[in-house]
Amino acid sequence: MLLDERRIVITGAARGIGLAVAGTCLAEGARVLLTDVDAEALAAAADGLSAGRDRLRAAALDVTDRAGIAAALSRIEDWDGLDGIVNNAAMLDISRAADVSDDRWSRVLDVNLTGALRVTQAALPLLRRSASPAIVNTLSTQAFFGVPKSAAYATAKGGLYMLTRSMAVDFGSEGIRVNAVAPGFIDTRMALMEDGMHEHEQEDFRTHYIDAGRIPLRRPGKPEDCAGAFVFLLSDLSLYITGQSICVDGGLSATY
Ligand SMILES: NC(=O)c1ccc[n+]([C@@H]2O[C@H](COP(=O)([O-])OP(=O)(O)OC[C@H]3O[C@@H](n4cnc5c(N)ncnc54)[C@H](O)[C@@H]3O)[C@@H](O)[C@H]2O)c1
Repeated sequence: MLLDERRIVITGAARGIGLAVAGTCLAEGARVLLTDVDAEALAAAADGLSAGRDRLRAAALDVTDRAGIAAALSRIEDWDGLDGIVNNAAMLDISRAADVSDDRWSRVLDVNLTGALRVTQAALPLLRRSASPAIVNTLSTQAFFGVPKSAAYATAKGGLYMLTRSMAVDFGSEGIRVNAVAPGFIDTRMALMEDGMHEHEQEDFRTHYIDAGRIPLRRPGKPEDCAGAFVFLLSDLSLYITGQSICVDGGLSATY
C-alpha cells in the first residue's frame, strides 16, 4: 500500500474533498487524524468511514485557534510523530474587491491562508520525527486565474500557492516536501449557491463550462477525483517533487 502506517493529519475533513482524501489515505494503509471545526459533522464523518477504522482518530480543530490546534494534536501523542499534513480547511467568500469589508477580508485570509501556516507550525516538531515527511496544501485554480466576486478567496489561495513554495524552500534541507493540489469545480457543499442551488446544476454553468468545452472532460469533479493527487504527493512516489502544485480540474486550466 502507498501509505502503509503513515501518520497523517487532515484539516477541514468532515466532508467534501478532505473527507475523500481521508478515505483514500485509510484505504492506502495510513493512520489518519480527521479534523474539522464542525464537531458534529466530524463525528458523523468518522462514523461513516469504513476502511481502516482502527487507524482513524478524530478531533475538533479550528485552524484559527492555536490552542485548539495543539489540543487536537495532543490526541496523537502516542503516534510519536507525523508523516503528513493536509492543509485543506477553507471557507468560501463571494465578494467583489470593491465591496469586501475589512472584517470579511481578514477572516477569509485568516482561515484559508494563515490557518495552513498555523497548523504547519504546530505540527512541525512532529513532522521532523518522520523519515519521509510531506505537506500538501489545498489550493484552487483560483490561485492562478481571476474570476468575478472572489477577491478575498482567490487572494488567499494565491497566497497559499506562494506559501507552498516558501515552505518548500525553507524546509527542503530537512527533507520535508511541500506541495499543493488545486481543484477546479468539484461537487461539494462549497459549490452550493446562496439560493441553495448547486452551482454546477445551473444553466449558465452548463453552457459556459461544459457545453463550450472550458472543462475539456465535460463534467464537474467529485471529491474522490481529487484524492489520488493528494495520496501521490504524500507518498514516496513523489520523493523528488517539492514546491509544486497539481491542478485537478478536468482540464479547466489547460484552456481559456
Ligand atoms: N469544491 C470546489 O469546487 C473547490 C474548488 C477549489 C478548491 N477547493 C478547496 O478544497 C478544500 C475543501 O473544500 P470542499 O470543497 O471540500 O468544501 P467543504 O465546504 O465541503 O469543506 C470545507 C471544510 O472546511 C471546514 N472548515 C471551515 N472553516 C474551518 C476552520 N476555521 N477550521 C477548520 N475547518 C474549517 C468546514 O467545516 C468544512 O468541513 C478547500 O480548501 C477549498 O477551498 C474546493
